[in-house]
Amino acid sequence: MTISIFTTNDHASGYAKGDQSQTPQLAPSSRLSTTYKQDEVGVHKGFEYSHSGNPNRDALERTLVGLEAGAGHAIAFASGSATTATVLQSLGPNAHILSVNDVYGGTFRYLTRVAKETMGIESTFVDLENTTDNEILDAIRVNTKLIWIESPTNPTLRLIDIPRIVGLARRAPSKPLVLVDNTFLSPFYASPLLQGADIVIHSLTKYVNGHSDVVMGAAILPSSFTPDRDYEGLVQKLRFLRNAHGAVPSPFDSWLAQRGAKTLAVRMKAHGLNALRIASFLTSHPAVEHVIYPGLASRSLHALARASLSPHAQQFLSTLPPSSIAHGIPYGGMVSFRLHGGARSAEVLLPKLRLFTLAESLGGVESLAELPARMTHASIPPAEREALGIEGLVRLSCGIEEVEDRGGGGFSGGFEGCVGWAG
Ligand SMILES: Cc1ncc(COP(=O)(O)O)c(C=O)c1O
Repeated sequence: MTISIFTTNDHASGYAKGDQSQTPQLAPSSRLSTTYKQDEVGVHKGFEYSHSGNPNRDALERTLVGLEAGAGHAIAFASGSATTATVLQSLGPNAHILSVNDVYGGTFRYLTRVAKETMGIESTFVDLENTTDNEILDAIRVNTKLIWIESPTNPTLRLIDIPRIVGLARRAPSKPLVLVDNTFLSPFYASPLLQGADIVIHSLTKYVNGHSDVVMGAAILPSSFTPDRDYEGLVQKLRFLRNAHGAVPSPFDSWLAQRGAKTLAVRMKAHGLNALRIASFLTSHPAVEHVIYPGLASRSLHALARASLSPHAQQFLSTLPPSSIAHGIPYGGMVSFRLHGGARSAEVLLPKLRLFTLAESLGGVESLAELPARMTHASIPPAEREALGIEGLVRLSCGIEEVEDRGGGGFSGGFEGCVGWAG
């Protein structure tokens, strides 16, 4: 595994080897036709109806296989949530799922209000960061078919030791699959398939597309073969369900996401360096009570963050001067923090930020800030939000703007303008 997958033109363009019709072009065309001419009845040249397959979606999927280390198959969906729904449906009725407790609000809503009511799928939410091995093994039932991990979690950025959970899953009699939602770190900072995960999912809406102009998702499965894991069969099932549901991304969105993916490595380096600078700035600010960024050396799980880095991220770190990473390492673009005064202070601060836009979502080149309890995580019941530490937490998606840019206010300028009341 080398970082060359981030620069190889075949992967970046998504061309299939030997695709003569495409080879003269550097950039692939967007092919929007919904249907394809057949020369004889039932005889087509690979595509018949774009719902079932189209060149741009295929090309994007090949690019995703190139990006996610250890991947053999990628299946693109109309959104991250459509990916979640399809993976859960592939488990069949009356399955049990063990999920990290601090899971994305939409996934929590789907598990508790849709999968449970329509398919009888039960979910147990466990603090996979702090629970002992025996407690996790006890929570795995005979019908537990899937363990759902996000790491870092959204928005409290808890870290899960993926190889540890994979090891426990392999010991459990029901041999549950391990799924990692790798949206937050992207294929650049984390390679869960190399750590033994069976399925990686992404909301491509976020870092992979990276420009806040596409909603899309993907499931990515390993290339490796294991006797008790039928990845080929699962891929066929997911493709069948995608087609049956019609949870398909459009050719143009596929084209945009593939174009965005070409710059993933460059963007992720900038997101990580900016996030580290901003987390360090916040740590020493008197108005701030608490900063969460697993890349900070002062965080208790920093060693786990370092150990979990993908080969590409490790290579990136080796190019940085030691002095620049003495107090922490770039570890994705997400930073969470709590102000003295909690939610009330955050509600005053957020509309005043000048470089950060007050908006939901994450992973785009522009910096965004939000209050998860009132925005992205409003669907989680208040008591659970309180228990998880979401109440009053501010979540930043650090973009790739020049971090020294204070001419237009910048993050520091916007924040410092509020110190009068916040302190
Ligand atoms: C971690 C994570 N997973 C999945 C999703 C769902 O993705 P989408 O909005 O593309 O449906 C989101 C959306 O915010 C997310 O943050």
